[in-house]
Amino acid sequence: MSWLLYGAYGFTGRLLAEEAVRRGHRPILAGRDGERLRALARTLNCPHRVFPLDDPFRLEVGLRQVRAVLHAAGPFVETSAPMLDACLAVGAHYMDITGEVPVFEAAFEQDARARDEGVIVMPGVGLDVIPTDAAAALLQRALPTARRLELALHSPGRPSTGTLETVVEGVPGGLLVRRKGELQGACPGDREFRREVDFGPEAGEGPMAGRLGGPRSVIPATWGDLATAWRTTGIPDITCYLTAPRRQVQLLPLALPVLRGVLKVGPLRRLVRRRLARTGGGPDAETRAGGRTRVWGRVEDGEGQAAEMVLELPEGYRFTALAGIRALEGVLELAGGSRRRPVPAGVLTPAGALGPDWVLGLPEVEVLRKPQPFPARVKRA
Ligand SMILES: NC(=O)c1ccc[n+]([C@@H]2O[C@H](COP(=O)([O-])OP(=O)(O)OC[C@H]3O[C@@H](n4cnc5c(N)ncnc54)[C@H](OP(=O)(O)O)[C@@H]3O)[C@@H](O)[C@H]2O)c1
Repeated sequence: MSWLLYGAYGFTGRLLAEEAVRRGHRPILAGRDGERLRALARTLNCPHRVFPLDDPFRLEVGLRQVRAVLHAAGPFVETSAPMLDACLAVGAHYMDITGEVPVFEAAFEQDARARDEGVIVMPGVGLDVIPTDAAAALLQRALPTARRLELALHSPGRPSTGTLETVVEGVPGGLLVRRKGELQGACPGDREFRREVDFGPEAGEGPMAGRLGGPRSVIPATWGDLATAWRTTGIPDITCYLTAPRRQVQLLPLALPVLRGVLKVGPLRRLVRRRLARTGGGPDAETRAGGRTRVWGRVEDGEGQAAEMVLELPEGYRFTALAGIRALEGVLELAGGSRRRPVPAGVLTPAGALGPDWVLGLPEVEVLRKPQPFPARVKRA
């Protein structure tokens, strides 16, 4: 029995396929466009299967004899449900690279069914949420009394077209945060979000020199950790941020409501996506090889104690390929089970299932600031 990569000829799918082959796998490459799939399968010398997601019968046939699926076709608000349903129907383990909160929440609703079927479901095995989920777990280990978690990502460089299309689909949902364990809407201009984040020492040389460290302005973001860090840590208050130039931080509270209004209109949203789709691709090989990403996390316990940490990782799409394939290997190992360690079926988070330290063993991942408790003080911008 093999595993299947769906969306294999997409920008990130292809990076995952190449990394899988580099590591000695021979996944079944899958997607809905036969021509593009055959070309990739020939190049990588892998088997392939052509099937769409909107035909449940063909989808289930496409998953025959498949042990696990790594789903890379997004936006996942449109693609995850049929694939997850089919995986649960045929008993295949499911992983994807979503970062979309509604997709995680919908997956967690399938927990009981996944347990019944003995299936492992692990959404978010990319840049979002592998390192941030680990940071949340490591911070909680350093400060077990933590009640409030903040996570920020600094990922300089161009996003892929698929990522931008996914953002366009997500904008109408507005900004979310987690408070007292519940997801709730928030206003990006609120004072509580006005802050700077210290991403640690500056990179002194190379293509990232001067582009990584130091205090940086951030905007609040509806990031997948609002769903996963809550399940991994149980910390009830969670806010996620992305870095942005100061000017964007100032404009966002004014621009976002307008953008939301425009993108709520289906035909306008589709028009924007069609325009974006024409540009195609993502960061080039040189950028992926030389780029770096930083993750910052902070917990507070409300009793005067805090802890912070900073991680450095490879460029986001390269990290997604490196980490996604290794997470799949980790899930296949878990799925092997044993008499002493039964298969942990259900909807799992990366750090919950693979452990908080697992991320530290990934290539080129470095801890720049270790999580150690200190007296709390929040710096407002
Ligand atoms: N978690 C993370 O950190 C992370 C990292 C990277 C990417 N992502 C996410 O991964 C997704 C893909 O990104 P990308 O850069 O690879 O985008 P992309 O280059 O546009 O590729 C998207 C792929 O999905 C397929 N697809 C889309 N809708 C489909 C549908 N309804 N049925 C079947 N196939 C469908 C496309 O096939 P067609 O060409 O036939 O439409 C294509 O193969 C995005 O949602 C992005 O946000 C997440």
